Amino acid sequence: MTTVSAIIVAAGKGRRMNAAAPKQYLVLGGLPILSRTLLAVDACPEVDDICLVVPGSDIDYCRKAVLDPICLRAPVKMIAGGAQRQESVYNGLSSLASDDHIVLIHDGVRPFVGIDEIRRCIDAAKIHGACIPGLPVIDTLKAVDDGGDIIRTIDRSRLWHAQTPQAFQCRLIKDAHEKAKRDGITGTDDALLIERLGEKVHVVSGSIFNIKITTPEDLKMAEAIADAYFKSINSALKKGGQYMTDLLDVIRERRSIRNYEPTEIPRDKIHAILEAVQMTPSWANTQCWEVIVVTNPEIKQQLQEAVPKSNPAYKSITAAPVVLALCAKKGTSGYYKDIVTTQYGDWFMFDLGLAAQSIGLAAHFLGLGSLIIGLYDHVRAKEVLGVPEGIDQVALITLGYPSKVPSPPKRRDISEFTHENRF
Ligand SMILES: Cc1cc2nc3c(=O)[nH]c(=O)nc-3n(C[C@H](O)[C@H](O)[C@H](O)COP(=O)(O)O)c2cc1C
Repeated sequence: MTTVSAIIVAAGKGRRMNAAAPKQYLVLGGLPILSRTLLAVDACPEVDDICLVVPGSDIDYCRKAVLDPICLRAPVKMIAGGAQRQESVYNGLSSLASDDHIVLIHDGVRPFVGIDEIRRCIDAAKIHGACIPGLPVIDTLKAVDDGGDIIRTIDRSRLWHAQTPQAFQCRLIKDAHEKAKRDGITGTDDALLIERLGEKVHVVSGSIFNIKITTPEDLKMAEAIADAYFKSINSALKKGGQYMTDLLDVIRERRSIRNYEPTEIPRDKIHAILEAVQMTPSWANTQCWEVIVVTNPEIKQQLQEAVPKSNPAYKSITAAPVVLALCAKKGTSGYYKDIVTTQYGDWFMFDLGLAAQSIGLAAHFLGLGSLIIGLYDHVRAKEVLGVPEGIDQVALITLGYPSKVPSPPKRRDISEFTHENRF
Protein backbone atom coordinates (compact mmCIF):
# COMPACT_ATOMS: atom_id res chain seq x y z
CA MET A 1 0.00 0.00 0.00
CA THR A 2 1.24 3.47 -0.85
CA THR A 3 2.10 5.67 2.11
CA VAL A 4 0.30 9.00 2.20
CA SER A 5 1.73 11.99 4.06
CA ALA A 6 -0.30 15.16 4.55
CA ILE A 7 1.45 18.51 4.85
CA ILE A 8 -0.81 21.09 6.45
CA VAL A 9 0.44 24.61 5.91
CA ALA A 10 -0.46 27.09 8.60
CA ALA A 11 2.54 29.39 8.75
CA GLY A 12 0.65 32.51 7.62
CA LYS A 13 0.17 35.63 9.69
CA GLY A 14 -3.49 36.01 8.61
CA ARG A 15 -3.17 39.63 7.55
CA ARG A 16 -6.55 39.72 5.75
CA MET A 17 -8.50 38.76 8.86
CA ASN A 18 -7.86 41.96 10.89
CA ALA A 19 -7.92 39.81 14.03
CA ALA A 20 -5.50 39.79 16.98
CA ALA A 21 -4.58 36.13 16.36
CA PRO A 22 -3.58 34.63 13.00
CA LYS A 23 -6.66 33.21 11.26
CA GLN A 24 -5.67 29.56 11.75
CA TYR A 25 -6.01 29.98 15.54
CA LEU A 26 -9.45 31.65 15.52
CA VAL A 27 -12.10 29.46 17.08
CA LEU A 28 -14.66 27.61 14.98
CA GLY A 29 -17.14 25.20 16.56
CA GLY A 30 -15.29 25.39 19.90
CA LEU A 31 -11.83 24.57 18.50
CA PRO A 32 -9.11 26.53 16.69
CA ILE A 33 -9.66 26.38 12.91
CA LEU A 34 -6.35 24.56 12.59
CA SER A 35 -7.46 21.83 15.03
CA ARG A 36 -10.59 21.44 12.93
CA THR A 37 -8.52 21.09 9.76
CA LEU A 38 -6.28 18.49 11.41
CA LEU A 39 -9.34 16.48 12.50
CA ALA A 40 -10.76 16.64 8.97
CA VAL A 41 -7.56 15.33 7.39
CA ASP A 42 -7.01 12.75 10.13
CA ALA A 43 -10.53 11.42 9.54
CA CYS A 44 -9.36 10.04 6.18
CA PRO A 45 -7.93 6.58 7.06
CA GLU A 46 -5.64 6.60 4.00
CA VAL A 47 -3.58 9.44 5.53
CA ASP A 48 -0.66 7.78 7.34
CA ASP A 49 1.07 10.79 8.89
CA ILE A 50 0.71 14.53 9.15
CA CYS A 51 3.35 17.25 8.96
CA LEU A 52 2.06 20.50 10.40
CA VAL A 53 3.96 23.59 9.25
CA VAL A 54 3.58 26.57 11.59
CA PRO A 55 5.63 29.70 12.30
CA GLY A 56 8.75 28.64 14.22
CA SER A 57 7.83 30.91 17.12
CA ASP A 58 4.38 29.26 17.41
CA ILE A 59 5.48 25.63 17.83
CA ASP A 60 4.97 25.50 21.62
CA TYR A 61 1.75 27.50 21.39
CA CYS A 62 0.39 25.14 18.70
CA ARG A 63 1.19 22.06 20.74
CA LYS A 64 -0.92 23.41 23.60
CA ALA A 65 -3.66 25.30 21.79
CA VAL A 66 -4.09 23.26 18.61
CA LEU A 67 -2.91 19.68 19.26
CA ASP A 68 -3.66 19.13 22.95
CA PRO A 69 -7.43 19.64 22.70
CA ILE A 70 -7.86 16.97 20.00
CA CYS A 71 -7.18 13.26 19.63
CA LEU A 72 -5.63 12.37 16.30
CA ARG A 73 -5.14 8.90 14.88
CA ALA A 74 -2.20 9.76 12.60
CA PRO A 75 1.17 10.78 14.07
CA VAL A 76 1.80 14.52 13.73
CA LYS A 77 5.14 16.26 13.52
CA MET A 78 5.41 20.00 13.68
CA ILE A 79 8.00 21.93 11.75
CA ALA A 80 8.81 25.61 11.29
CA GLY A 81 7.54 27.33 8.16
CA GLY A 82 9.14 30.02 6.04
CA ALA A 83 8.33 33.62 5.18
CA GLN A 84 6.07 32.57 2.29
CA ARG A 85 3.65 29.67 1.79
CA GLN A 86 5.87 28.12 -0.87
CA GLU A 87 8.84 28.11 1.48
CA SER A 88 6.69 26.50 4.18
CA VAL A 89 5.62 23.72 1.80
CA TYR A 90 9.26 23.30 0.78
CA ASN A 91 10.24 22.86 4.45
CA GLY A 92 7.44 20.33 4.88
CA LEU A 93 8.55 18.38 1.80
CA SER A 94 12.19 18.43 2.93
CA SER A 95 11.17 16.88 6.25
CA LEU A 96 9.69 13.79 4.55
CA ALA A 97 12.02 10.84 4.78
CA SER A 98 11.04 8.96 1.64
CA ASP A 99 10.26 9.96 -1.94
CA ASP A 100 8.12 7.14 -3.19
CA HIS A 101 4.81 7.99 -1.63
CA ILE A 102 1.91 10.37 -2.11
CA VAL A 103 1.97 13.82 -0.54
CA LEU A 104 -1.13 15.86 0.17
CA ILE A 105 -0.63 19.60 0.60
CA HIS A 106 -3.52 21.23 2.38
CA ASP A 107 -4.29 24.75 3.62
CA GLY A 108 -4.56 24.94 7.41
CA VAL A 109 -7.61 27.19 7.03
CA ARG A 110 -9.74 24.72 5.05
CA PRO A 111 -11.42 22.79 7.90
CA PHE A 112 -14.35 21.54 5.84
CA VAL A 113 -12.45 19.19 3.57
CA GLY A 114 -14.24 15.85 3.34
CA ILE A 115 -12.92 12.30 3.41
CA ASP A 116 -14.25 11.64 -0.10
CA GLU A 117 -12.43 14.61 -1.61
CA ILE A 118 -9.18 13.62 0.05
CA ARG A 119 -9.62 10.08 -1.29
CA ARG A 120 -10.39 11.33 -4.81
CA CYS A 121 -7.16 13.35 -4.78
CA ILE A 122 -5.04 10.47 -3.46
CA ASP A 123 -6.47 8.02 -6.01
CA ALA A 124 -5.96 10.43 -8.92
CA ALA A 125 -2.40 11.29 -7.82
CA LYS A 126 -1.57 7.57 -7.88
CA ILE A 127 -2.67 7.43 -11.53
CA HIS A 128 -1.74 10.89 -12.84
CA GLY A 129 1.15 11.90 -10.59
CA ALA A 130 -0.43 15.25 -9.71
CA CYS A 131 -3.98 16.18 -8.87
CA ILE A 132 -5.99 19.03 -7.40
CA PRO A 133 -9.62 19.31 -6.38
CA GLY A 134 -11.46 22.09 -8.18
CA LEU A 135 -14.87 23.52 -8.92
CA PRO A 136 -16.01 24.93 -12.25
CA VAL A 137 -16.60 28.67 -12.16
CA ILE A 138 -20.35 29.29 -12.13
CA ASP A 139 -20.57 33.09 -11.98
CA THR A 140 -20.09 35.13 -15.13
CA LEU A 141 -16.60 36.61 -15.13
CA LYS A 142 -15.89 40.21 -16.10
CA ALA A 143 -12.58 41.95 -16.68
CA VAL A 144 -12.87 45.42 -15.12
CA ASP A 145 -10.66 48.48 -15.69
CA ASP A 146 -9.25 50.81 -13.02
CA GLY A 147 -12.28 53.10 -13.39
CA GLY A 148 -14.66 50.24 -12.44
CA ASP A 149 -16.01 49.67 -15.98
CA ILE A 150 -16.23 46.32 -17.71
CA ILE A 151 -13.62 45.74 -20.36
CA ARG A 152 -14.98 42.39 -21.50
CA THR A 153 -16.69 39.16 -20.43
CA ILE A 154 -14.35 36.23 -19.94
CA ASP A 155 -15.20 32.79 -21.30
CA ARG A 156 -15.61 30.80 -18.11
CA SER A 157 -16.22 27.42 -19.74
CA ARG A 158 -12.67 26.25 -19.02
CA LEU A 159 -12.18 28.07 -15.73
CA TRP A 160 -12.06 26.25 -12.41
CA HIS A 161 -11.47 27.34 -8.84
CA ALA A 162 -8.44 25.47 -7.43
CA GLN A 163 -8.79 24.04 -3.92
CA THR A 164 -6.66 21.89 -1.65
CA PRO A 165 -5.59 19.20 -0.72
CA GLN A 166 -3.39 19.06 -3.79
CA ALA A 167 -1.95 15.58 -4.13
CA PHE A 168 1.33 14.58 -5.76
CA GLN A 169 3.83 11.83 -6.19
CA CYS A 170 6.43 12.95 -3.67
CA ARG A 171 9.43 12.96 -6.05
CA LEU A 172 7.52 15.03 -8.62
CA ILE A 173 6.48 17.79 -6.23
CA LYS A 174 9.92 17.87 -4.62
CA ASP A 175 11.48 18.35 -8.09
CA ALA A 176 8.94 21.06 -8.89
CA HIS A 177 9.77 22.96 -5.71
CA GLU A 178 13.53 22.58 -6.22
CA LYS A 179 13.21 24.00 -9.73
CA ALA A 180 10.98 26.89 -8.61
CA LYS A 181 13.52 27.71 -5.91
CA ARG A 182 16.39 27.68 -8.40
CA ASP A 183 14.40 29.87 -10.83
CA GLY A 184 13.24 32.28 -8.11
CA ILE A 185 9.57 31.60 -8.96
CA THR A 186 6.75 31.98 -6.44
CA GLY A 187 3.43 30.30 -7.31
CA THR A 188 0.06 30.81 -5.67
CA ASP A 189 -0.34 27.05 -5.39
CA ASP A 190 1.73 23.89 -5.74
CA ALA A 191 0.06 22.71 -8.95
CA LEU A 192 1.54 25.75 -10.74
CA LEU A 193 5.03 24.54 -9.97
CA ILE A 194 4.22 21.18 -11.60
CA GLU A 195 2.71 22.97 -14.61
CA ARG A 196 6.04 24.79 -15.00
CA LEU A 197 7.77 21.41 -15.38
CA GLY A 198 5.50 20.76 -18.36
CA GLU A 199 3.78 17.94 -16.43
CA LYS A 200 0.02 17.43 -16.42
CA VAL A 201 -2.05 18.10 -13.32
CA HIS A 202 -5.35 16.29 -13.17
CA VAL A 203 -8.43 18.00 -11.68
CA VAL A 204 -11.03 16.10 -9.66
CA SER A 205 -14.23 17.56 -8.31
CA GLY A 206 -13.87 19.52 -5.10
CA SER A 207 -16.62 20.70 -2.78
CA ILE A 208 -18.36 24.03 -2.28
CA PHE A 209 -18.03 23.51 1.49
CA ASN A 210 -14.25 23.28 1.32
CA ILE A 211 -13.85 27.04 1.70
CA LYS A 212 -10.63 28.79 2.61
CA ILE A 213 -11.19 31.01 5.63
CA THR A 214 -9.21 34.16 4.96
CA THR A 215 -11.53 37.11 5.62
CA PRO A 216 -13.97 38.00 8.43
CA GLU A 217 -16.81 37.25 5.95
CA ASP A 218 -15.41 33.76 5.34
CA LEU A 219 -15.37 33.18 9.09
CA LYS A 220 -19.05 34.15 9.34
CA MET A 221 -19.90 31.76 6.53
CA ALA A 222 -17.77 29.06 8.18
CA GLU A 223 -19.63 29.49 11.46
CA ALA A 224 -22.92 29.13 9.61
CA ILE A 225 -21.97 25.74 8.15
CA ALA A 226 -19.83 24.51 11.08
CA ASP A 227 -22.55 23.02 13.20
CA ALA A 228 -24.01 20.61 10.66
CA TYR A 229 -20.66 19.83 9.10
CA PHE A 230 -18.72 18.96 12.24
CA LYS A 231 -21.47 16.62 13.34
CA SER A 232 -20.77 14.50 10.27
CA ILE A 233 -17.00 14.63 10.84
CA ASN A 234 -17.39 13.65 14.48
CA SER A 235 -19.46 10.64 13.53
CA ALA A 236 -16.93 9.67 10.85
CA LEU A 237 -14.21 9.84 13.51
CA LYS A 238 -16.15 7.50 15.71
CA LYS A 239 -16.49 4.80 13.04
CA GLY A 240 -14.69 1.95 14.76
CA GLY A 241 -13.20 0.27 11.73
CA GLN A 242 -10.42 2.69 11.07
CA TYR A 243 -9.02 2.34 14.56
CA MET A 244 -9.16 -1.42 14.84
CA THR A 245 -5.96 -2.13 12.94
CA ASP A 246 -4.18 0.44 15.11
CA LEU A 247 -5.22 -1.21 18.36
CA LEU A 248 -2.48 -3.82 18.19
CA ASP A 249 0.07 -1.04 17.61
CA VAL A 250 -1.22 0.74 20.71
CA ILE A 251 -0.82 -2.47 22.72
CA ARG A 252 2.63 -3.16 21.26
CA GLU A 253 3.98 0.35 21.68
CA ARG A 254 2.73 1.18 25.20
CA ARG A 255 5.54 1.36 27.75
CA SER A 256 5.65 2.07 31.46
CA ILE A 257 6.65 5.74 31.58
CA ARG A 258 8.49 6.96 34.68
CA ASN A 259 9.76 10.35 33.45
CA TYR A 260 7.38 13.17 32.57
CA GLU A 261 7.35 16.65 31.07
CA PRO A 262 5.92 19.26 33.48
CA THR A 263 3.15 20.01 30.91
CA GLU A 264 -0.46 19.88 32.17
CA ILE A 265 -2.88 17.34 30.69
CA PRO A 266 -6.00 18.89 29.12
CA ARG A 267 -9.16 17.97 30.98
CA ASP A 268 -10.78 16.38 27.92
CA LYS A 269 -7.93 13.86 27.69
CA ILE A 270 -8.47 12.91 31.34
CA HIS A 271 -12.16 12.59 30.51
CA ALA A 272 -11.37 10.27 27.57
CA ILE A 273 -9.24 8.11 29.90
CA LEU A 274 -12.02 7.94 32.48
CA GLU A 275 -14.37 6.96 29.65
CA ALA A 276 -12.02 4.03 28.94
CA VAL A 277 -12.46 2.96 32.59
CA GLN A 278 -16.23 3.37 32.27
CA MET A 279 -16.28 0.96 29.29
CA THR A 280 -14.06 -1.68 30.92
CA PRO A 281 -15.61 -5.14 31.44
CA SER A 282 -16.20 -6.21 35.03
CA TRP A 283 -17.59 -9.18 36.96
CA ALA A 284 -21.36 -9.25 36.26
CA ASN A 285 -20.93 -5.59 35.32
CA THR A 286 -20.43 -4.73 39.01
CA GLN A 287 -17.94 -1.92 38.15
CA CYS A 288 -16.40 -1.97 41.60
CA TRP A 289 -13.89 0.79 40.76
CA GLU A 290 -13.62 4.30 42.18
CA VAL A 291 -11.02 6.65 40.70
CA ILE A 292 -9.46 9.66 42.45
CA VAL A 293 -7.90 12.15 40.02
CA VAL A 294 -5.01 13.71 41.95
CA THR A 295 -3.49 16.92 40.58
CA ASN A 296 -2.84 18.76 43.88
CA PRO A 297 0.97 18.93 44.43
CA GLU A 298 0.66 18.58 48.23
CA ILE A 299 -1.43 15.41 47.98
CA LYS A 300 1.00 14.00 45.40
CA GLN A 301 3.84 14.78 47.80
CA GLN A 302 2.07 12.91 50.61
CA LEU A 303 1.41 9.97 48.29
CA GLN A 304 5.08 9.92 47.39
CA GLU A 305 5.90 9.51 51.07
CA ALA A 306 3.93 6.26 50.97
CA VAL A 307 6.17 4.90 48.20
CA PRO A 308 9.54 3.37 49.20
CA LYS A 309 12.50 5.34 47.78
CA SER A 310 13.78 2.08 46.30
CA ASN A 311 10.71 1.84 44.04
CA PRO A 312 11.70 3.12 40.55
CA ALA A 313 8.31 4.86 40.52
CA TYR A 314 9.20 7.08 43.51
CA LYS A 315 10.03 10.21 41.52
CA SER A 316 7.24 9.62 39.00
CA ILE A 317 4.55 10.43 41.60
CA THR A 318 5.53 14.09 41.90
CA ALA A 319 6.87 14.45 38.34
CA ALA A 320 3.58 13.36 36.72
CA PRO A 321 0.96 16.12 36.39
CA VAL A 322 -1.82 13.64 37.26
CA VAL A 323 -1.98 10.58 39.48
CA LEU A 324 -5.04 8.35 39.25
CA ALA A 325 -5.66 6.49 42.51
CA LEU A 326 -7.56 3.31 41.72
CA CYS A 327 -9.84 2.16 44.51
CA ALA A 328 -12.27 -0.73 44.69
CA LYS A 329 -15.54 -1.26 46.56
CA LYS A 330 -15.12 -4.57 48.33
CA GLY A 331 -17.61 -7.43 48.38
CA THR A 332 -19.11 -6.90 44.92
CA SER A 333 -16.90 -8.36 42.19
CA GLY A 334 -17.04 -12.16 42.35
CA TYR A 335 -20.10 -12.07 44.59
CA TYR A 336 -23.70 -13.10 44.02
CA LYS A 337 -26.22 -11.78 46.58
CA ASP A 338 -23.36 -11.03 49.05
CA ILE A 339 -22.00 -14.58 48.71
CA VAL A 340 -18.60 -15.30 47.25
CA THR A 341 -19.07 -17.41 44.12
CA THR A 342 -15.56 -18.77 43.46
CA GLN A 343 -12.62 -20.02 45.46
CA TYR A 344 -10.76 -16.81 44.66
CA GLY A 345 -12.99 -14.68 46.86
CA ASP A 346 -13.16 -11.00 45.94
CA TRP A 347 -12.31 -10.36 42.28
CA PHE A 348 -11.71 -6.62 42.73
CA MET A 349 -8.02 -6.95 41.79
CA PHE A 350 -8.98 -8.56 38.50
CA ASP A 351 -11.49 -5.86 37.55
CA LEU A 352 -9.11 -3.10 38.59
CA GLY A 353 -6.38 -4.75 36.51
CA LEU A 354 -8.60 -4.52 33.47
CA ALA A 355 -9.41 -0.89 34.28
CA ALA A 356 -5.68 -0.19 34.67
CA GLN A 357 -5.01 -1.69 31.23
CA SER A 358 -7.78 0.47 29.72
CA ILE A 359 -6.14 3.53 31.30
CA GLY A 360 -2.67 2.64 30.01
CA LEU A 361 -3.84 1.95 26.47
CA ALA A 362 -6.10 5.00 26.27
CA ALA A 363 -3.30 7.19 27.64
CA HIS A 364 -0.85 5.87 25.08
CA PHE A 365 -3.35 6.35 22.27
CA LEU A 366 -3.75 9.99 23.38
CA GLY A 367 0.01 10.60 23.33
CA LEU A 368 0.41 10.29 27.11
CA GLY A 369 2.54 7.95 29.17
CA SER A 370 1.38 6.02 32.22
CA LEU A 371 2.79 3.85 35.00
CA ILE A 372 0.94 1.41 37.24
CA ILE A 373 2.36 1.56 40.78
CA GLY A 374 1.53 -1.33 43.08
CA LEU A 375 4.37 -1.37 45.59
CA TYR A 376 3.71 1.20 48.34
CA ASP A 377 2.04 1.60 51.74
CA HIS A 378 -1.63 1.27 50.81
CA VAL A 379 -2.97 2.06 54.28
CA ARG A 380 -1.10 5.36 54.34
CA ALA A 381 -2.25 6.23 50.80
CA LYS A 382 -5.84 5.46 51.84
CA GLU A 383 -5.56 7.95 54.71
CA VAL A 384 -3.95 10.62 52.51
CA LEU A 385 -6.77 10.28 49.98
CA GLY A 386 -9.61 10.12 52.52
CA VAL A 387 -10.89 6.79 51.18
CA PRO A 388 -13.87 5.56 53.28
CA GLU A 389 -14.26 2.15 54.96
CA GLY A 390 -15.38 -0.66 52.67
CA ILE A 391 -13.25 0.69 49.85
CA ASP A 392 -9.62 -0.29 49.25
CA GLN A 393 -6.97 1.88 47.66
CA VAL A 394 -5.21 -0.56 45.35
CA ALA A 395 -2.96 1.10 42.75
CA LEU A 396 -1.65 4.50 41.71
CA ILE A 397 -1.33 5.31 38.02
CA THR A 398 0.80 8.26 36.98
CA LEU A 399 -0.09 10.11 33.80
CA GLY A 400 1.74 12.74 31.77
CA TYR A 401 3.62 13.57 28.60
CA PRO A 402 6.68 11.29 28.48
CA SER A 403 10.10 12.94 28.63
CA LYS A 404 11.86 9.58 28.20
CA VAL A 405 10.48 6.41 26.67
CA PRO A 406 12.34 3.25 27.72
CA SER A 407 12.97 0.39 25.32
CA PRO A 408 10.69 -2.62 25.73
CA PRO A 409 11.63 -5.17 28.39
CA LYS A 410 12.16 -8.73 27.22
CA ARG A 411 8.89 -10.64 26.94
CA ARG A 412 8.32 -14.38 27.18
CA ASP A 413 7.90 -15.99 23.81
CA ILE A 414 4.26 -16.68 22.94
CA SER A 415 5.01 -20.40 22.75
CA GLU A 416 6.30 -20.29 26.35
CA PHE A 417 2.93 -19.34 27.79
CA THR A 418 0.53 -20.80 25.24
CA HIS A 419 -0.78 -24.35 25.53
CA GLU A 420 -2.87 -26.14 22.94
CA ASN A 421 -6.04 -27.65 24.37
CA ARG A 422 -4.38 -28.85 27.63
CA PHE A 423 -1.57 -27.41 29.81
C1 LIG B 1 0.11 -4.55 38.96
C2 LIG B 1 1.35 -3.81 38.58
C3 LIG B 1 2.08 -3.13 39.54
C4 LIG B 1 3.24 -2.41 39.19
N1 LIG B 1 3.93 -1.74 40.16
C5 LIG B 1 5.03 -1.02 39.82
C6 LIG B 1 5.72 -0.26 40.80
O1 LIG B 1 5.38 -0.24 41.98
N2 LIG B 1 6.81 0.44 40.41
C7 LIG B 1 7.23 0.47 39.11
O2 LIG B 1 8.23 1.13 38.82
N3 LIG B 1 6.57 -0.24 38.14
C8 LIG B 1 5.49 -0.97 38.46
N4 LIG B 1 4.80 -1.66 37.49
C9 LIG B 1 5.26 -1.58 36.08
C10 LIG B 1 5.91 -2.88 35.59
O3 LIG B 1 7.21 -2.99 36.14
C11 LIG B 1 5.99 -2.87 34.05
O4 LIG B 1 4.68 -2.84 33.55
C12 LIG B 1 6.72 -4.07 33.49
O5 LIG B 1 8.07 -4.00 33.81
C13 LIG B 1 6.59 -4.15 31.97
O6 LIG B 1 7.10 -3.00 31.33
P1 LIG B 1 6.21 -2.14 30.34
O7 LIG B 1 4.99 -1.69 31.13
O8 LIG B 1 7.07 -0.99 29.88
O9 LIG B 1 5.80 -3.02 29.19
C14 LIG B 1 3.67 -2.38 37.83
C15 LIG B 1 2.91 -3.06 36.86
C16 LIG B 1 1.75 -3.74 37.22
C17 LIG B 1 0.95 -4.44 36.15
